Amino acid sequence: MPITFNEENKIFHLTTPNSSYIIAIMACGIPVHMYYGKKINIFSMPDEKMFEIEGYSFSPQIDMDKYGKFTLDIIPCEYPSTGDGDYRNPAITILQQNGSKIVRLLYAGYKIYDGKPELKGLPATYVEEKSEAQTLELYLYDNVAKVKVTLKYTVFNDYDAIARSTEVYNYGSEKIVLLNAQSACIDMDNKNFNFIHLHGSWARERHIKSVPLNCTAVTIDSKRGVSSHNENPFFALAEKGATENCGEVYGFNLIYSGNFVASADMNYLNSIRAYIGINTYNFQYVLERNESFQTPEAILVYSDCGFGKMSRTFHSLYRNKLCRGQFRDDKRPILLNLWETAKFNINEKVVFDAAKEAKELGIDLIVIDDGWFGSRNSTKGSLGDWNINKEKFPGGFKQLSDRLAEIDIKLGIWIEPEMVSPDSNLIRQHPEWCIHTPDRNISKARGQYVLDFTKQEVRDHLYNEIYDILSSADISYVKWDMNRGLSEVYSDALSPESQGEVSHRYVLGIYELMDRLTSAFPDILFEGCSAGGARFDGGILYYMPQIWVSDCTDAVERMYIQHGTSLVYPSSCMAAHVSDVPNHQLKRVTPFDTRTNIAMAGRFGYELDVLSLTQEEKILVKVAIQRYKLYEDVIHHGDMYRLISPYETDYTAWQFVSDDKSKCVLIYGNTRAVTQMFSTRIKLKGLLNNREYTEINSGRTYSSDMLENFGILIRQDIDYSSEMMIFELE
Ligand code: DGJ
Repeated sequence: MPITFNEENKIFHLTTPNSSYIIAIMACGIPVHMYYGKKINIFSMPDEKMFEIEGYSFSPQIDMDKYGKFTLDIIPCEYPSTGDGDYRNPAITILQQNGSKIVRLLYAGYKIYDGKPELKGLPATYVEEKSEAQTLELYLYDNVAKVKVTLKYTVFNDYDAIARSTEVYNYGSEKIVLLNAQSACIDMDNKNFNFIHLHGSWARERHIKSVPLNCTAVTIDSKRGVSSHNENPFFALAEKGATENCGEVYGFNLIYSGNFVASADMNYLNSIRAYIGINTYNFQYVLERNESFQTPEAILVYSDCGFGKMSRTFHSLYRNKLCRGQFRDDKRPILLNLWETAKFNINEKVVFDAAKEAKELGIDLIVIDDGWFGSRNSTKGSLGDWNINKEKFPGGFKQLSDRLAEIDIKLGIWIEPEMVSPDSNLIRQHPEWCIHTPDRNISKARGQYVLDFTKQEVRDHLYNEIYDILSSADISYVKWDMNRGLSEVYSDALSPESQGEVSHRYVLGIYELMDRLTSAFPDILFEGCSAGGARFDGGILYYMPQIWVSDCTDAVERMYIQHGTSLVYPSSCMAAHVSDVPNHQLKRVTPFDTRTNIAMAGRFGYELDVLSLTQEEKILVKVAIQRYKLYEDVIHHGDMYRLISPYETDYTAWQFVSDDKSKCVLIYGNTRAVTQMFSTRIKLKGLLNNREYTEINSGRTYSSDMLENFGILIRQDIDYSSEMMIFELE
């Protein structure tokens, strides 16, 4: 049984294959976090006196007569509340009618059941059979504030992961205002942790950063309305000295696409409190009698073997139990996106000419990016007017897709549903449909406004518009873009006291539209995008199995970005394209095969001018596509090992091993040439013991222990050189 409850000691013990998570209910009814870490088979309750503190009058005791020196100030709380003598950051704060914000949550019961509940309106991991997981619901009550808080925990049989979320229910007769409700909070022993996070900016997303957790809080967040380029809703607490392959690492990831906060703090008692959830910034949520609020889901992953194992757990969980639809398992088309080549100068001739050449090269699908609608010839106008520009596409997408079908190539399109241009028919007809605050200027970003997705009529309008476009022709792929953060956040559809709900309701609104459209068009491959990777998160992955990693397509920068992204997200969801040089963003010139090899570690595609390719480059494209098609299963369904980090060396090396370990793909590249480093060798991982593998380019055969211990010699003497090696079991 993955979840057990010891009635006598009031201990809940949640187990995954290699980890234990233990909660104890104290005599006073407070749930205490006892342990999270390497699996403990039998846990017996230690002396409750461990939670008493001597000689310190500044920690209030909740009831000296009944519970002695027991104080909330020092105990490891399971879900810390506000204002009751615990001076650390709370996981929940509720404003009540009398002005009090105090919450004290006491245990009132539990339920353990097979399977995993859906989170209404929110993306979440799922099970296909009830037997795959077990769920604990822990019921906590505050009988003064009249709230019931349900802490939900799902443990998966096959993954060292725990899915946590929180539901707050108002059972009183008066309304309450939720000011803070974290998805997960955990108090842990101090293990000299480093706080690892994914930091960046536009075209430089998800670079790995590490901060030692000392006596100050480390907090990352987004206030932009999207999960953001700047921080990803992920952090890890890594025991000091943890590496790719050893040491304890705890990963926390929020399945959410809007404002979030994540924080860890070492307190004066030398213990750690960490939490992740919706940002309290500009957030308050009114709960009337009998209403409830469900937080997004947080995924907690434990690894006793470093970052590599943590990532492989996230990867397989997200690949199999977060991504959905036919493209979760099916092969996906190799596409050519025309954005970097054509920008807004797109028309039927440009598409068709490129498509003919693309087909010759082996490409499956051609994507019309921005610029096909209204009078869109720059970023200045037409967003929201989703009517096909007949000067550019005289026969609409139908005529084009018919012509493309004749040469056996599929059609994909770009769209940015959440936006509207100030110069658009949509905003002229419905000026109240964009997010704005009364009497204030509306800030533009990239020349555009954001539509008020809290409004059902806005979502219905977009559903109908996009439905019509997607039904008008044989469209096989949609890139769903979103190019600005939210500002002047306010909705005239909501009362003044509910304005703190707008950012969250916006996210729920986009999820609803994504759900409706992806359900209506299950055969279309949807790809998420947000000015590159500003919304690269598990929330989007629930609706769209791949996301454009970054607007930076430079192969060297991509080594850093893809390496960082892989800390949490699998290669199967990272869209990566071979682009022209000098690179559009960084002007760097990298070899064609390096651009190819690095893109092959993601969802492979092209973003270059196929009509200008040299004969030699055309051969490289054809060979690459053939090779990718042969080994994409290994790359996207196998285990990933990050062998060398560009953050620590001048090299990047990634290895993908098939489930049965019969095939393995090694991709490496350098970020700068270095001289006289002839002895650098890459040591492979995860192979079968005492077997032989043949590298198919060279035809050389190696023993698995030689590959894992002696390694493969790599070149370092040419700038930005790279190689892709394939090993097959003899
Ligand atoms: C931003 C995206 O990241 C790009 O790939 C491209 O689609 C442009 N938007 C189009 O406006």
